[in-house]
Amino acid sequence: MSARGRLITIEGVDGTGKTTLATALLGRLTDHGVDARLMREPGGVETSERIRELVKDPELTVGPRAEALLYAAARAQLVDQALLPVLESGAWVLLDRFVDSSLAYQGVGRGLGVDAVRDLNRFATAGLTPDRTLLLSLDSQLARARASDRGAAAGEAPDRLEREGDEFFVRIREAYLSLAAAEPERVRVLDASQAPSAVVDQALAALGDLLPG
Ligand code: TMP
Repeated sequence: MSARGRLITIEGVDGTGKTTLATALLGRLTDHGVDARLMREPGGVETSERIRELVKDPELTVGPRAEALLYAAARAQLVDQALLPVLESGAWVLLDRFVDSSLAYQGVGRGLGVDAVRDLNRFATAGLTPDRTLLLSLDSQLARARASDRGAAAGEAPDRLEREGDEFFVRIREAYLSLAAAEPERVRVLDASQAPSAVVDQALAALGDLLPG
């Protein structure tokens, strides 16, 4: 039986380049002989993709607790239906957002408290934790400008969370940095102001000890 694959999560506020990094990193991991799959949250399996539509819809009223539960429900389904089977097959998963997003956005951003949201997510994930988390760090104003340029280029209106004010995103960024400070072995902070190729190099260096010899 092959060894269990690694779960690598990518985190950061919107506009820090998570998706760009995930795609580029996938190619670099393949060069290292790692069979890796890309997934995103909320989403990845049909039920969770439907929850994604719901939770992003600016027409809906979704209170903080309902929001935390919806993300947790999407996560629980992804864990059972896709994450665990893929990891157990020996492949790695590069996951665009995971529990740390809920700790930062719902725990701190929505004020539910990091501990309450962590408990909820322990249930949702059946205790699955990432082997490593890559946190993309960028000044929140710059990240917001990048996210809105990307949305405008794609002809997309801001979703329910993107409509929050600047202050919300400043708090999310700070929350992420404190999560990284509390768990420096798991959470590695990458400087997202650098060119995409330099960010991938940093990411690969942060995974160095996990790569096959
Ligand atoms: P994205 O996939 O385009 O980044 O959109 C996901 C949005 O949902 C983004 O605004 C962050 C937010 N989010 C949370 O608030 N909590 C979570 O647990 C997750 C996974 C995402």
